[in-house]
Amino acid sequence: MTQKDLIPKQEPKKIKSGEVTWQSPSNIALVKYWGKKENQIPANPSISFTLGNCRSTTTLKFTEKETSDNTFEFDFFFEGQPKEDFKPKIQKFFQRIEEYCPYLKDYKFEIHSENSFPHSSGIASSASGMSAIAVCLMDLERQLFPEIEEEYFIQKSSFLARLGSGSASRSLEGGLVVWGEHKNIEGSSDEYGVKFPYDVHEIFKTYKDTILLVDKGEKQVSSTVGHDLMHGHPFAENRFAQAHDNLDKLISVLKSGNTQDFIKIVESEALTLHAMMMSSLPYFILMKPNTLEIINKIWEYREKTEIPVCFTLDAGANVHVLYPEIHESKILEFINNELVVYCQNGHYICDQVGIGATKIDN
Ligand code: PMV
Repeated sequence: MTQKDLIPKQEPKKIKSGEVTWQSPSNIALVKYWGKKENQIPANPSISFTLGNCRSTTTLKFTEKETSDNTFEFDFFFEGQPKEDFKPKIQKFFQRIEEYCPYLKDYKFEIHSENSFPHSSGIASSASGMSAIAVCLMDLERQLFPEIEEEYFIQKSSFLARLGSGSASRSLEGGLVVWGEHKNIEGSSDEYGVKFPYDVHEIFKTYKDTILLVDKGEKQVSSTVGHDLMHGHPFAENRFAQAHDNLDKLISVLKSGNTQDFIKIVESEALTLHAMMMSSLPYFILMKPNTLEIINKIWEYREKTEIPVCFTLDAGANVHVLYPEIHESKILEFINNELVVYCQNGHYICDQVGIGATKIDN
């Protein structure tokens, strides 16, 4: 599908008003996206597990304007309260997608959003939040152009979500999602996420992710600033090549279910992401002492028990503990006995591989 195919060509149906609600999850990258080109095109391909419990629920109410003007009209509410500081983000998002959604200026919108995870938990809500808004807009688009097919619906939702926040493009579908062109992954695209198209071993279909909340503070570095730091970064080209290589290796690991090789790739990706931040100008350390304590404890535990548990990190101090479902009770015991002391107020969130965005009946 090319960008031109994403512009509606027919006359829209007349729809005066309505409302739609969708839930969309967060995701956790195994091969990380860090660095982008113009128009939210990733500098390298990435792959993530779609999560199940960390979700945004978003309602989009739309009313046709009496007279069409040349402005975007919308209000944004977060957990029931008007949230003015999020409006510029949506304004920018609407500007970016207007070409593909020419109906945006015909309606006045009310957007209501809430998260299943505590805000200020340090969990990025942009992936779930932006993908939820994108899929709500596509639901309106499908009402305006009822001939839209399911594949187009999902791909364009992901395409729009990407223009809001890159990683949001990987939140529409369940399981494993690839975003960014990779020579050995058929159908992969820089424009939108696609479901990982090859065989996946059963073990990875129900993988667990327990998120240890080490630092619930505001992000020290916005992802926009973070991605920018890869421009002119001394190791950028090698890093991008490494991501291609790691994704290549993951294809066979995901098929065979080899957790030892999975661990090597996933932990190396997490540490490389942070190494990139530490070696950029300006430089940042986003891990906290407790992040390192947890990593060391996981390594010790893995060595001692031979249970294939590993960690990954986002652009922050929280630790995602990844492990096969069959080890859940042992790992939760380990977390409660040994890791919870390193979490802010003892907080952690239990999650696992999920199914992607779902519509909620109004
Ligand atoms: O979607 P953004 O622009 O917030 O970037 C997120 C990047 C990481 O979470 C650090 C890695 C990834 O691939 O999700």
